[in-house]
Amino acid sequence: MAASHAENEEPISNILIVIAMQTEALPVVNKFNLTQDPQSPFPEGVPWVRYHGTYKDLNLNLIWPGKDPALGVDSVGTISSALVTYAAIQALQPDLIINAGTAGGFKARGASIGDIFIVSDCAFHDRRIPIPVFDLYGVGFRKAFESPNLVKDLDLKVAKLSTGDSLDMTEQDESSIIANDATVKDMEGAAVAYVADLLKVPAIFIKAVTDIIDGDKPTAEEFLQNLAAVTASLDLAVEKVVNFINGKCLSEL
Ligand code: ADE
Repeated sequence: MAASHAENEEPISNILIVIAMQTEALPVVNKFNLTQDPQSPFPEGVPWVRYHGTYKDLNLNLIWPGKDPALGVDSVGTISSALVTYAAIQALQPDLIINAGTAGGFKARGASIGDIFIVSDCAFHDRRIPIPVFDLYGVGFRKAFESPNLVKDLDLKVAKLSTGDSLDMTEQDESSIIANDATVKDMEGAAVAYVADLLKVPAIFIKAVTDIIDGDKPTAEEFLQNLAAVTASLDLAVEKVVNFINGKCLSEL
């Protein structure tokens, strides 16, 4: 682990929160009174936005990948999230990454709308490379930083996450998600986990369920219908997690 990252026995001081959608990010920005950095640490012209501030003993940085410059919608998905995570780690040297966002949930595995999960493991479900060992590279399995005390103290559910670049789910995706043993499905987590692992920064994942992927409602409709309400629960969960982390070392999480 790089010298500037908190060793396990030093209190965590610098947190990087990565959130893909503006609707998910702004309540967290407001909750912690973060302000937009007028001098972006990122290359000129990229839409990535850094909000920062201090909260209790913590230096908080929230990075939102911003709006696609051509289309004006949130830059969701694995490419943007990997890029911003890489750039933010380089610029800000965080002790810990929190990737927070909404997700689809499998009701067959016990997920319901509004549930909040802490992720134990991340993998991809849409990188199929049927050649020995490349198959495993495609799945890209990574473990999240283990936080048993946080999970216990905040009484959170724990689940595995599967990530892909589509909101919908093909039959092949579904088989891979089941093979990944996942309860929640998103579009960023495994990409953030990949970069965090490359640069040896611990990462935790908080996912809030907006839609049921094995239900009968069209995913996009259900997602948009529940986005505002579920985002409010996500924001509360992020606040509780940050409060729990304050004053603690990585080994106490
Ligand atoms: N984010 C919220 N719902 C999702 C879903 N069903 N798939 C991927 N990402 C999501």
